[in-house]
Amino acid sequence: MAKEVVLSGIRPTGFLHLGNYFGAMRNYVRMQDEYNCYFFVANWHSLTTHPDTKTLQQSVYRVAAENIACGLDPEKIALYVQSDVPEIAELYLYLNMLAYKGELEKTASFKEKVRLNPENVNAGLLTYPVLMASDILIHRAVKVPVGKDQEQHLEMARNFAQRFNYRYGNVFPEPYAFNYGGELIKILSLDGNGKMSKSENQMATLYLADDDDSIKKKIMKAKTDGGPAEPNSVMPDYIKNIFTLMQQVSTPDTVKKFEEDFNNSSTGNIIIRYGDMKKQLAEDMIAFIKPIREKAADLQNNKELLLKIIKQGADKARASANETIQLVRKAVLG
Ligand code: ADP
Ligand code: TRP
Repeated sequence: MAKEVVLSGIRPTGFLHLGNYFGAMRNYVRMQDEYNCYFFVANWHSLTTHPDTKTLQQSVYRVAAENIACGLDPEKIALYVQSDVPEIAELYLYLNMLAYKGELEKTASFKEKVRLNPENVNAGLLTYPVLMASDILIHRAVKVPVGKDQEQHLEMARNFAQRFNYRYGNVFPEPYAFNYGGELIKILSLDGNGKMSKSENQMATLYLADDDDSIKKKIMKAKTDGGPAEPNSVMPDYIKNIFTLMQQVSTPDTVKKFEEDFNNSSTGNIIIRYGDMKKQLAEDMIAFIKPIREKAADLQNNKELLLKIIKQGADKARASANETIQLVRKAVLG
């Protein structure tokens, strides 16, 4: 039986961070053997909110290199750049005729972006979900690994697919959000305010491109407190986040030791030493990020190889996109 098609995209609007890694990319890596995977850098989507393109190309290369450094294997999957696949833009044109102004205006992400940036409410921003649906439907993907914030966009993609099929004949399967093996983890910002993110809280976000010194400084500054007031206390979110990070990069014994120290602490008898815990986490995090950072840097310095990989991805993606667009043209235009 043919493998199911998995697809996801990431916008090159900043540096990739541990939230992207543990919340998204690590899952992509697990999927690449089992599914027919398409992963891409959504550079057209960036234009809806970031019209200045001076650093765009560099960000595209960095995101591609970081994805490979995290373990995506360009031989197993199609790793490509959105703008290298013009069939997506053609499908976007057809789907735009099936998308209604009212539903687009009601989209949560649109309303949020209008609120944040009222002076650039462009038509591309309004039709962002249509472009995203085109990304997905062009490969007739059924499984889309994304975070919760993208679920509304997927529901819209299903609606557009249904409308197309109803009007022009059955071309598209319906895509659904897909999380590998249960709960997705969310990585909070180290200052305890919100989640790690590409554009906010930069001193409290750990990036895959951070050098050893910055990693250490940021972790040592992570928010903690005076310690638990009684044994087996409920952990505040910012302390839990440090444990979550430790669970990803430290040995089980190390995590266990600090958990026991936390659970046995109480006012007047604070056993857990957050300073020591952060020092250990910094050491283990440096060991974790360093090889990713170095591999990504090597690739960015080897433009010839990186361009070859991106070209190979575009070829694979276009082969699949072409099959779909032929069906679409025939269905719509006859
Ligand atoms: P950002 O919010 O940094 O711009 P994106 O919205 O581009 O990140 O997200 C890309 C992917 O990374 C999505 O699947 C999203 O769910 C995941 N992701 C982003 N930030 C986090 C986080 N702090 N914790 C877990 N997953 C995250
Ligand atoms: N909108 C997604 C985000 O902000 C990025 C994206 C664009 C995407 N096209 C996609 C994700 C297609 C999954 C499938 O994170």
